[in-house]
Amino acid sequence: MHEEKILVLDFGSQYTQLIARRVRETKVYSEIFPYNASIEKIINFGPKGIILSGGPSSVYDPRAPIPDLKIFKLGVPVLGICYGMQLIAHCLKGKVAKARKREYGKADLIIDHKTDIFEGIPKKTVVWMSHGDKIERCPVHFQPIAHTANASIAAMASKKDRFYALQFHPEVVHTSLGLKIIKNFLFRICGCSPMWTMKSFIETTTGEIREKVGNKKVVCGISGGVDSTVTAVLVNRAIGRKLTCIFVDNGVLRAGEAKKVEKTLRRHFHMKIDCVNASDRFMKKLKSITDPERKRKIIGNEFIRIFEEEAKKIKGVEFLAQGTLYPDVIESVPFKGPSATIKSHHNVGGLLDKMKLKLIEPLRELFKDEVRVLGKELDIPEEIINRHPFPGPGLAIRVIGEVTMDRCDILRKADSIVLEEIKKAGQYTKLWQAFAVLLPVKSVGVMGDERTYENVVAVRAVKSLDGMTADWARVPYDVMGSISNRIINEVRGVNRVVYDISSKPPSTIEWE
Ligand code: XMP
Repeated sequence: MHEEKILVLDFGSQYTQLIARRVRETKVYSEIFPYNASIEKIINFGPKGIILSGGPSSVYDPRAPIPDLKIFKLGVPVLGICYGMQLIAHCLKGKVAKARKREYGKADLIIDHKTDIFEGIPKKTVVWMSHGDKIERCPVHFQPIAHTANASIAAMASKKDRFYALQFHPEVVHTSLGLKIIKNFLFRICGCSPMWTMKSFIETTTGEIREKVGNKKVVCGISGGVDSTVTAVLVNRAIGRKLTCIFVDNGVLRAGEAKKVEKTLRRHFHMKIDCVNASDRFMKKLKSITDPERKRKIIGNEFIRIFEEEAKKIKGVEFLAQGTLYPDVIESVPFKGPSATIKSHHNVGGLLDKMKLKLIEPLRELFKDEVRVLGKELDIPEEIINRHPFPGPGLAIRVIGEVTMDRCDILRKADSIVLEEIKKAGQYTKLWQAFAVLLPVKSVGVMGDERTYENVVAVRAVKSLDGMTADWARVPYDVMGSISNRIINEVRGVNRVVYDISSKPPSTIEWE
């Protein structure tokens, strides 16, 4: 499907995904392979260029990640970044010196030899450094092309082989002309052209889905979130009414959510949707359960059971469409934290074997921000595209302690006030998530002349790039003030509101 591809070999840098995204921003398709991918797999992929990522190791470490050295014999341009640069020097017989201290932060790069990688870059430019070791001697055929105050060889090139290496990180925004340098590598050195657009993605993907499905049928679980909605709309565009979407109302959704999703997909896209109101079933199963992990399991299992019952009613179903994203499928070197393995409960993998369904995962090559662009291209309303993530187990993990319909209703009201006020203040799109949590604590208050003894609601608002780390949002005091006033005045059963000022780590975004 992709004619021109760039391969990013991952040596464990926190920026590896960013490199792939930057390449894609320039409309060139890129994928990430682990550093030890076999040469056959790499040849089979057919890259027009290879980028070696940075990484935390030193090439001197006996366990340092080393790729198959045949990558240097493929006749394909190579760009080494940071560890990638040291690796080129080490593998091609240059000299890497152990540095006594790490260099971290902004530095002025002085270009000594103008080559195609620095085309259009001024002689002095700001770059982002983050390295321990440095290059002492270039390998044969290489020439030093730039330096900084701390690194006499901050960039080197072998024009003959089309190998380039940078000690700094062009992929991060602190390198002011980083994207230009990446573009130079892609367009001038690898000879790529900017062909990979969402329009072309839609065309090829819908074609592939049509061919794969033939005259069979597809089911897709939708949750109202971005990924499942975009998946459903894309598959719908490909095969129309051969797709049935299943939407399970588990009773722990936000206020009005179920209706909103149904209305949008049905009215806007004329999709076939099977809406199941299963609140009672979920509530029964959740009765007297307080352990967060058990709540998650119960909700996940019940969802699968209901989904299966519904899917069985549709004759001729052979496929299950699912909104798996690229970050979920990358085989990565770095250690992944617990959040990385969290899967939405809509990941109904168990059904595949039981019902002998085959998977359709049209988003498995995309990053989250690309899914949003795709959603826009597919004409999905902004309100859905920009929606904050919402956990599969829903409000059940935000009603701390036992989950009952009454407590869910209290939380739903408080939660919609939080969202209304945040949106009114123009804060919604600046935040990763904002929501209310109902605590299993009562506190004393006074309303009129009466003493009250009621629930406490905690408000959580965080900023984050990917949910892996997060900082509590500095929401303006007057916005917090309106949220608190409105919740206490309008939500029966709540007489106190507190604001959560913990970051992740060591806290998590959700309370359970
Ligand atoms: P934590 O609480 O681990 O959350 O900091 C990180 C992100 O993941 C979401 N989350 C979940 N999503 N099923 C999901 O689909 C879950 O069980 C689950 N738990 C947490 C959370 O909302 C945040 O965006």
